[in-house]
Amino acid sequence: MKIIEQEEVRKLLQPKDCIQLMAEALKGLESGEYAQPARLITVMPNTAKFGFMPAYVGDYFGAKVISAFAPNMGTKYPSHIGYVMLFESAHSTVAGMIEAGSITEIRTGAVSAAATDLLARKDSHKLALIGAGAQARSHLAAIREIRDITSVTVYDLFPQAAELFAKDMHEKYKIPVVVCSTVKEAVKDADIICTVTPSKEPLLTKEMVKPGTHINAVGTFTPTTREVSSDLVAAARLYSDQTEAAKRESGEYLIPLKEGLIKEDHIVGSIGEVLLGKAQGRTADDEITIFDALGLAIEDVASAKYVYERAAL
Ligand SMILES: NC(=O)c1ccc[n+]([C@@H]2O[C@H](COP(=O)([O-])OP(=O)(O)OC[C@H]3O[C@@H](n4cnc5c(N)ncnc54)[C@H](O)[C@@H]3O)[C@@H](O)[C@H]2O)c1
Repeated sequence: MKIIEQEEVRKLLQPKDCIQLMAEALKGLESGEYAQPARLITVMPNTAKFGFMPAYVGDYFGAKVISAFAPNMGTKYPSHIGYVMLFESAHSTVAGMIEAGSITEIRTGAVSAAATDLLARKDSHKLALIGAGAQARSHLAAIREIRDITSVTVYDLFPQAAELFAKDMHEKYKIPVVVCSTVKEAVKDADIICTVTPSKEPLLTKEMVKPGTHINAVGTFTPTTREVSSDLVAAARLYSDQTEAAKRESGEYLIPLKEGLIKEDHIVGSIGEVLLGKAQGRTADDEITIFDALGLAIEDVASAKYVYERAAL
């Protein structure tokens, strides 16, 4: 059995390749080639959101076991800790354990980039990031692979996190990264917005967002938390990573549904369905589109398989 730690994952799983890999995984899930039972996320007494996320991708299957631990924010400890345990399907033996914090980080940005490529206007150049942590970094890395991003605005609850992000990203990509003191200021001219925070309350409202914007709502993944307000969800075309999971777990969908602001059929489709031509993407330049990312086990297990196979070369 091979144990693959995060340094190797980061070398082997590049954002550009991961975007294509995630598009294939989401298609495979919708076509029935791959399978994914419901995940289990339990809140532990220490507040860790502890997840068991199984999936089957043909020649391999496995599960990500991960703790999302918000109190580690801003400390030397990572906020996502765990491994993907990968089995080969032929004999059901354990093939490897692949570090899951790095997989989660890279695959989440790549999935949003795959969604953005389908849903954002082709002339989208201005990116706004709400939250300046690991996901903000992976989203910038991936989204610049599918659109010509010429400027970035960033807001974080902790200004020093946003300042550090702006310095690092400007050095890395040589594009202007402006730190904003409010969400409203950060998003006012944006073509693409990514919300990547653990906020429990909505950060983004309808009046803040200009027509034609694409939003990736990524940070929250439980029925009672969300980053986007009900009026904005109601005004937008809403897409899921998997509609069945969104109807069970997504606060972005369930809260406005409970408030009566949207109907049960408000989700246009999943990204896999749009890729397969089973659901329609953006239909006009002035529409607001929202991709609500819960994060799927299929994304983790497909990434773990990819890393495992390349590590063996
Ligand atoms: N949907 C998915 O597939 C998926 C995958 C990975 C992570 N996540 C979630 O995305 C979020 C971000 O993950 P990360 O790894 O970047 O975490 P991180 O701890 O590295 O960064 C989070 C950042 O958000 C900032 N923040 C917290 N509350 C805020 C608020 N109210 N307004 C603005 N900024 C705020 C923090 O200061 C921090 O800089 C977490 O909630 C995580 O659980 C979702």
